[in-house]
Amino acid sequence: MKTEIIINNKKRTFDLEPNTLLLNLLRDELNLTGSKYGCGVGECGACTVLLDGNAILACMTLAVDVNGHKVDTIEGLSNGENLHPIQEAYLDEAAIQCGFCTPGFIMATAALLNENADPSEFEVREYLRGNLCRCTGYVNIVKAVKSAAKRMKKK
Ligand code: FES
Ligand code: FES
Repeated sequence: MKTEIIINNKKRTFDLEPNTLLLNLLRDELNLTGSKYGCGVGECGACTVLLDGNAILACMTLAVDVNGHKVDTIEGLSNGENLHPIQEAYLDEAAIQCGFCTPGFIMATAALLNENADPSEFEVREYLRGNLCRCTGYVNIVKAVKSAAKRMKKK
């Protein structure tokens, strides 16, 4: 099926099987491997990307269903060599250990801050409850989101 998707601000046209998952399209066809295959069943959030600015799970999304829409991945977040304030905050707050979950967390954080520029700790934890991390214990991730909110207000 002919499918047009704006991926990281670039319009792409594909001829897709109807059952192609967005995550497979991103990782296997486009080599955008920042979005991770964790559980594959919508439980871990490692595959989180933005669809028109909202967080979605790429492992649970058919690529043909996002025809005509805008998809953003972690690869599109930085501005060339300059990291996005959310990425800087995750680094500065040491919210990363093995890093497998991090792209998903960062994209979910971007979606949260699109909706709510100054979330409380409770709101951060609530919003990110679908993203699992086996390493960090979440404390530094919450700090990173709060720090990112402050940094983005200053911009
Ligand atoms: S890989 Fe998509 S939610 Fe786990
Ligand atoms: S940093 Fe390892 S799973 Fe989150």
